Amino acid sequence: MPIPKLGNVKYKIKKSSAGLGLFAVLAIPRGTWIIEYVGKVLRGKEVTEHPANKYLFETSRTRMIDGSQRLNTARYINHSCKPNCEVEIFGGRVFIKTIKRIEAGDELTYDYGEEYTGEYIKPYGCRCAPCKSPPRASL
Ligand SMILES: C[S@@+](CC[C@H](N)C(=O)[O-])C[C@H]1O[C@@H](n2cnc3c(N)ncnc32)[C@H](O)[C@@H]1O
Ligand SMILES: [Zn+2]
Repeated sequence: MPIPKLGNVKYKIKKSSAGLGLFAVLAIPRGTWIIEYVGKVLRGKEVTEHPANKYLFETSRTRMIDGSQRLNTARYINHSCKPNCEVEIFGGRVFIKTIKRIEAGDELTYDYGEEYTGEYIKPYGCRCAPCKSPPRASL
């Protein structure tokens, strides 16, 4: 698959239920590539020697991206158990696309996966919207 072409998407960083988050300014159609997760690429020994931080993104068994720099706007996307975006990896590069139509003002989220959520989210309690306000069971 060729490297995706990013759409002309307007988003802003603001406070969410899980610290800062990334929000759509205007509606975004489903299937739009919105952003690339960028940062320093760590390979081999650099991966094991690099101090842990919550912005490390594993792209293969031997490679990671350290996305902790602020210029990596994608680092503000929070985890959701019912996300509206998903991540795909293209030759070690990480791109994020919408998997549903997003309305203006919606927070952009993806599922961080079991390994990350097991270490950094679940032990403290997931603060995504569906976990904070689960649908009521009908009587
Ligand atoms: C890549 S950062 C996302 C941006 C972060 N909220 C910030 O303010 O920089 C990932 C971190 O955000 C927090 N986070 C993201 N999604 C969360 C969620 N659903 N529940 C609780 N914390 C979350 C956790 O601290 C996690 O380690
Ligand atoms: Zn959740």
